[in-house]
Amino acid sequence: MKKNIILTGFMGTGKSTLGRMLARELNYEFIDTDQLIEERLDKTIAEFFQNEGEARFRKIEAKLAQELAKCQGLVIATGGGLMINPENVAALGRTGQILCLVATPEEILERISLQPGTRPLLKDPNPLQKIIELLEQRATIYDKFTQVSTSSQSQKQLVTELLHHINQGS
Ligand code: S3P
Repeated sequence: MKKNIILTGFMGTGKSTLGRMLARELNYEFIDTDQLIEERLDKTIAEFFQNEGEARFRKIEAKLAQELAKCQGLVIATGGGLMINPENVAALGRTGQILCLVATPEEILERISLQPGTRPLLKDPNPLQKIIELLEQRATIYDKFTQVSTSSQSQKQLVTELLHHINQGS
């Protein structure tokens, strides 16, 4: 049985970019939970947050986590808040390996600034402060997983590091 590889971590840590590259290396199908939700709702996540609110988004995320937990041989890039829900961690964790990408608040801000208006939780007069606050709130969640720092390494090197963790199973 092919296990799933699940990339989690805060917004702007490179989950989608590296996930896509990793899937190519492993010859696995790639799923980006945010992208799949947007396709299914035919709305951007920013629009959905604005019209329906975060709580409804979390319910959709949770349903998707249960659905993906029935699949195998996937590289899954999760939305940055998906692992807040322990049921999502349990469901996806049973199907494979969860790796957490990490970056500094400054790097996160720089990266998400390249995609303005796409991160409703960071729509704040002081986005850097908001990133720091959310990272603090979520530290105990992200810290449970094997962490891979995305600072000062090329994307190719990062994929090699991820493959190393996958081969080691840790
Ligand atoms: C969120 C992260 C976003 C998206 C939504 C909420 C979060 O995904 O799911 O805006 O709570 O951290 P990315 O991590 O892909 O930006």
